[in-house]
Amino acid sequence: MEPRKITEGVFWVGAVDWDRRLFDSLIPLPDGTSYNAYLIKGSSKTALLDTVDPTKTDVLMSALRGVERIDYVVVHHAEQDHSGSLPVVLQKYPEAKAVCNPKCKEFLMDLLHIPEDRIVTVADGETLDLGGKTLEFIFTPWVHWPETVSTFLREEGILFSCDLFGSHLSFPGLYIDDEQRVCDAAKRYYAEVMMPFRAMIKKHLEKLSTYPVKIIAPSHGPLYKDPSCIIGSHLDWVSDRVSNTVIMPYSTMHGSTEMMVDHLAGRLYEKGVKVERFNLAYADTGRITMALVDAAAVVFGSPTVLGGAHPHVISAAFLINALRPKIRYSAIIGSYGWAGKMAEQVTANIGGLKAESLGTVLVKGRPRQDDFKKLDELADAIAAKHKDNGII
Ligand code: FEO
Repeated sequence: MEPRKITEGVFWVGAVDWDRRLFDSLIPLPDGTSYNAYLIKGSSKTALLDTVDPTKTDVLMSALRGVERIDYVVVHHAEQDHSGSLPVVLQKYPEAKAVCNPKCKEFLMDLLHIPEDRIVTVADGETLDLGGKTLEFIFTPWVHWPETVSTFLREEGILFSCDLFGSHLSFPGLYIDDEQRVCDAAKRYYAEVMMPFRAMIKKHLEKLSTYPVKIIAPSHGPLYKDPSCIIGSHLDWVSDRVSNTVIMPYSTMHGSTEMMVDHLAGRLYEKGVKVERFNLAYADTGRITMALVDAAAVVFGSPTVLGGAHPHVISAAFLINALRPKIRYSAIIGSYGWAGKMAEQVTANIGGLKAESLGTVLVKGRPRQDDFKKLDELADAIAAKHKDNGII
């Protein structure tokens, strides 16, 4: 990969991973991803900002082949998709020091066995002068680990924002014209890794708004020449606003639960409530997390299997609970053959949601007229809650 020039002395030297389809053995990557590393050449020192995933070390080293000296490798984040090539870089450049915050130092020593004498730590707000290029370190914990740092290159107005504003989007250039495409990818990324830390992200956005940012250069996906759109989107995602939307993750074995989902979804639609339903047999986890960014309610649908909830529903409930979305209302619907603890199991897995339960509708076997009536009442209750609370 050839370096891509951003401004004078500032280059993208990362790697595009067109074919990666899964992150953390969990998150689907329909559009691949990129690991963005940047090289900044000052008049006296050279700094590399982050490295790449270990599977792409050869791509980074190829981009650096004409670089004779690196003085600093700034490590914004110890997660291996950005730090994984650090041992090879430090080996090739014996004079280079890894620059990071104290928490990250600990992680680098634990995760990558980087020797302590190859690491220098910096404080929040500290600067590093490369000679006409000043790096200011801004601590931005929980985007997405506790050690995460961003860097502002003062002279150029470039914010290297690490995972913040990132997107899992392969792209053969620096910038992308299709704002909606990158915004969708960034929403998916925010939902998957940053939504649980919404309050922290909000504070970071406030802090970063005081910097004269001209370009945002995240650690994944395209850069932003006009930061206003992506910042505006993030401000909305971290706000308390929820939309008039119910998400319905469900499993079905012989069709009874799906009949209930169909009926409830139709009734909600008639009442002006948007529904996003996800059959968990094949749903894209990323689409579910995106819907969670601003949905007001969730209705889990599950049959009863082996005396409890379907494992796909338990898995979805666990993930939704861990992502701590803004969900305000919840309900459970589903069917059983003779007995079971389906609803109790789902409820036990969503204890972290600050959501008001609007009830449970359980059906023995296939739903009958009375059961559909209960689903109508549930739809009425959800629609009324949304309306009464100004959720439109
Ligand atoms: Fe892209 Fe949290 O690493």
